[in-house]
Amino acid sequence: MAQGRKESSAKIVFIDPAKQRRRRRLVVGALILVCLSGLLYSLLGMGQEGIASVILPADPPRSSEASSTGEEKSMIHQKEDEERLHASGKTCNDALVLVDRSHTLPPDYVPSDLVSLSAYSVPTLGGREMLLRREAAEHLRSLVADAAADGEDLVVASAFRSYEGQKASYGRLKSIYGRGADAMSATPGHSQHQLGTAVDFTNAAADYQIRRGFARTSAYDWLQAHATEYGFALAYPHGKNQTGYYFEPWHYRYIGVENARRLEQSGLTLQGFLVREGVFPDC
Ligand code: DAL
Ligand code: ZN
Repeated sequence: MAQGRKESSAKIVFIDPAKQRRRRRLVVGALILVCLSGLLYSLLGMGQEGIASVILPADPPRSSEASSTGEEKSMIHQKEDEERLHASGKTCNDALVLVDRSHTLPPDYVPSDLVSLSAYSVPTLGGREMLLRREAAEHLRSLVADAAADGEDLVVASAFRSYEGQKASYGRLKSIYGRGADAMSATPGHSQHQLGTAVDFTNAAADYQIRRGFARTSAYDWLQAHATEYGFALAYPHGKNQTGYYFEPWHYRYIGVENARRLEQSGLTLQGFLVREGVFPDC
């Protein structure tokens, strides 16, 4: 072993200086050849992308060069994702569209089949004009009528809200509660109310307010027991604040009877169910 180490160090110490010079000349010659061939390609207008990929990586990418950067790759992936969504044929009109803090509706999205709740004999707060998508309104009519037959009083305090309407609603809460408003109201573009399938209930027992006390009314118990039969689901339940909002015993969203049944059987919250089965806003 000791002998082997001696031999190896002797090789390093006694390397021939003439050989070393020859090697250096060879390396320099090879480098000059590479540069000359690059220059030749450049002058002839050939292989420009190939040369650029050698020369440019050390430089910061300019916007006009985005085509050769990771930026473009991510844009391509984004485009592919969007195309998949379009190919799925799902849109914001889908009963299971996921609208939350991360999934946004465009400002100009307005459902095309909004109807007046008064035309469907659904009582509204102060008799005000309120709108809902047709299928949701039809099911709400049955829900309210059957609740009334069971002695339960339900009045709709809020239904469809446009992007601008949500902006005003959020702005009002923001002016009172500051940042605290974010746990009470969706920012514009992030509200289920813009879908035209969500309603806020109140009644005499809740002093016709949208307030937590609604959870202590028998009408709330009735909704807990029967809303699914009409395709409605409590969107922001107690103690399950994965949505980032406080408990809203008054806020129900129509998702269709079959979906509501499947949601109930799943044991998931509406948010969890939509993350699993819903579709992204695509409109
Ligand atoms: N209050 C619910 C989160 C909304 O503003 O849509
Ligand atoms: Zn609501």
